[in-house]
Amino acid sequence: MSSLTLREHLVERWVTSLRHELLLDRLAVPIVLAPLAGGPSTPELTAAVSNAGGFGFLAAGYLAASALAERLERTRTLTGAPIGVNLFIPGTSAPPQAVDAYAARLADDARQAGVELGAARFDDDDWAAKLELLMATPVAVVSFVFGCPEPEVIDRFHDAGSEVWVTVTRPDEARRAVDAGADALVVQGAEAGGHRASFRDDPAADVIGGIGLLSLLQLVRAEADIPLVATGGIATGAAIAAVLAAGAAAAQLGTAFLRCPEAGTAAVYRQALADNAPTAMTRAFTGRLARGIRNRFLDRYSAAAPAAYPELHHLTAPLRQAGRAAGDPGLVNLWAGQTYELGHQLPAGQLVRTLAEEARAALQHAGERLSPPAGGLGEEVGSAGPAPRSPS
Ligand SMILES: Cc1cc2nc3c(=O)[nH]c(=O)nc-3n(C[C@H](O)[C@H](O)[C@H](O)COP(=O)(O)O)c2cc1C
Repeated sequence: MSSLTLREHLVERWVTSLRHELLLDRLAVPIVLAPLAGGPSTPELTAAVSNAGGFGFLAAGYLAASALAERLERTRTLTGAPIGVNLFIPGTSAPPQAVDAYAARLADDARQAGVELGAARFDDDDWAAKLELLMATPVAVVSFVFGCPEPEVIDRFHDAGSEVWVTVTRPDEARRAVDAGADALVVQGAEAGGHRASFRDDPAADVIGGIGLLSLLQLVRAEADIPLVATGGIATGAAIAAVLAAGAAAAQLGTAFLRCPEAGTAAVYRQALADNAPTAMTRAFTGRLARGIRNRFLDRYSAAAPAAYPELHHLTAPLRQAGRAAGDPGLVNLWAGQTYELGHQLPAGQLVRTLAEEARAALQHAGERLSPPAGGLGEEVGSAGPAPRSPS
């Protein structure tokens, strides 16, 4: 924005928005594959969703820029359709005392699993290198989580030809993202599996709890006049229909794709997803609030875990890896949204087509509910005589 005034900047953005049709306007099917960092995201899954007319994201979180480059290249060999990449906005480092105290509590579990805990280091997830990679080899959409990029970064992505989507969990975050120049908002309800996308992970806000998706869509729509992508707890065509009716341009599904054969979901994780234990929010695995299926580790350590991301992510990585290798679900972060038990084991393209058909049927059914057949209650009320005239 540097040399432009705020007004000039806003006018420029308005003119740009008139010039460009957004990707969401062109999607054949308004279903978005969420970025699924930490294993489930694969080029095959991303390509399958985009090839089926939906929109596939590739997760960049936890990957070095060089690994992301390889995955991008592979994805491009599997699809010529538009794809997106999701980046984590770096945070700030946590107080070492809190991390050390938590590490001491985990020592017994590490001994029992026969592993050393990881080095609880802070890092920025290779932020600058990933930005450069995506500027040099642009994708249709770059989405962000855990914060909002600076307007300058958004402008650079626009210049490179990419749209920018920002994930929000509250109306004030939506306002910030719109002001920074985002093209669309991914509106994440509290039902969502995986990490809360909040700009700041504040334990003091835990008592308030997150806002559910339908409430949040209405609140964000009142603040933001740009396209919304609804996410959190959407597992059926009926729920896709519901968010479209509530004004979303598309639905972004994460957990629903975890059991697809193209996903890199570990066997022990797939098994847990086929069951129906409750989910809960926890910082125990990564130091950032996330929703997962309750298990031994989550129940034992959630109360003690400090907000310390990514330090705890690195600290617990060997334990989680040991759990996956030994088939012990009690040690693994089983990220899942509140509706995970409705998931199916279907190829991703087939899942997209089935969900789209279900959504069409649900919207038609809902439409019919609003135009009752002749002789219905509406007719009877009407036939009782003309409506009373209001006093003039
Ligand atoms: C295993 C897993 C990994 C996730 N990784 C990311 C990620 O890398 N970036 C991101 O923005 N959201 C991530 N999410 C959250 C999703 O974007 C989305 O908000 C969530 O999946 C929606 O709820 P649902 O799982 O009930 O569909 C992840 C979710 C899961 C379940």
